[in-house]
Amino acid sequence: MQENRAFFEGNEQAKRFRARILKAMDILTVTLNPSVDETIYVDSLKPQDTNRVLNVETDAGGKGVNVARVAKTLGCQVMATGFLSGKTGRFVQAVLDVEAVPNEFVWLRHGHTRRNLCIEDQQGNPPTTLNEQGPSVSDEAWRALVEKIRVWLPSVRWMAVGGSLPPGAPPDAYRILIKMAREAKVACVLDSDGAPMVAGLEAVPTLIKPNEREAERLMGSLLPSDEAIFEAARQLSGRGIPYVIISRGAKGADAVSPEGAFRAIPPSVISRSTIGSGDSMVAGILSRLIVGDPFPEALRWGTAAGAATATTSGAEIADQETILELLPGTVVSEWQK
Ligand SMILES: Nc1ncnc2c1ncn2[C@@H]1O[C@H](COP(=O)(O)OP(=O)(O)OP(=O)(O)O)[C@@H](O)[C@H]1O
Ligand SMILES: [Mg+2]
Repeated sequence: MQENRAFFEGNEQAKRFRARILKAMDILTVTLNPSVDETIYVDSLKPQDTNRVLNVETDAGGKGVNVARVAKTLGCQVMATGFLSGKTGRFVQAVLDVEAVPNEFVWLRHGHTRRNLCIEDQQGNPPTTLNEQGPSVSDEAWRALVEKIRVWLPSVRWMAVGGSLPPGAPPDAYRILIKMAREAKVACVLDSDGAPMVAGLEAVPTLIKPNEREAERLMGSLLPSDEAIFEAARQLSGRGIPYVIISRGAKGADAVSPEGAFRAIPPSVISRSTIGSGDSMVAGILSRLIVGDPFPEALRWGTAAGAATATTSGAEIADQETILELLPGTVVSEWQK
């Protein structure tokens, strides 16, 4: 026993291995407002008329749900939780079950998990989206979820929270959850927008990944140049957030971390739909930080995972094969003015 302890204390790799045994679960994802995403393809959309549908794609969505699915394909031990309800909720659960993503949601008694409809035409017009609000969360359901998370936290290494808040959830839901994670010494990711994001930032998450528009809203100003984006990432990290990644779609991402500032460039791909690219990026980064890779390598995996999801249609997310294919063409370098 004494010998074992000395071995673990003396060897970095063994220390990481030990941490992994003690923390059985790599990532707990929390999705307060998951969705069923339907992409409806038409030739051209004619309002107030009958439209012929060419094809429909239906998938489970929501930031935490996506992070859990991609992290699982990259070999992480995950658990997905949050709120589900009704038939659409059962669909989300079925998608996770088919992919063997462990999940345990709090089921709401009323309403149904929201549907997001996206109508895409063949004329190159921007899509038309119709997003439901999501079912209302009662105080009782919120307390049940908080309790569930409290029980899991001691055996978790990262918690990922994000997305919009459903009606009835506390406006500072993310601040409450991140505070709990920090008290349990669990690292956490926050990926949201607007007021819920601002409230969550007060509890100082470990990693954030706003896209350019979200970063502009956080800074309250436009970020018109590469320098402005890096400066924004620096300022956000100055609030005590160790990893700040600002994702920039096909341009890649700029990041500030304890290991330095980096720029990531994805390979050029044929982009079909970037829904879920940001979540895939988060999953890719976490999957490598968890095995102890340096941050630039984790960022490379995240960037490849985001690009891989951009190649899929509708709300579909990347598989492991595509991520591995894109990895060699993904470049991360130290940021230079
Ligand atoms: N067209 C693209 N070509 C190559 N890589 C892409 C493309 N779009 C996204 N990516 C990759 O995915 C990452 C995240 O994408 P993006 O900045 O669009 O995130 P996001 O807006 O948060 O997405 P979402 O919230 O829909 O999941 C980018 O940093 C990049 O690595
Ligand atoms: Mg995003």
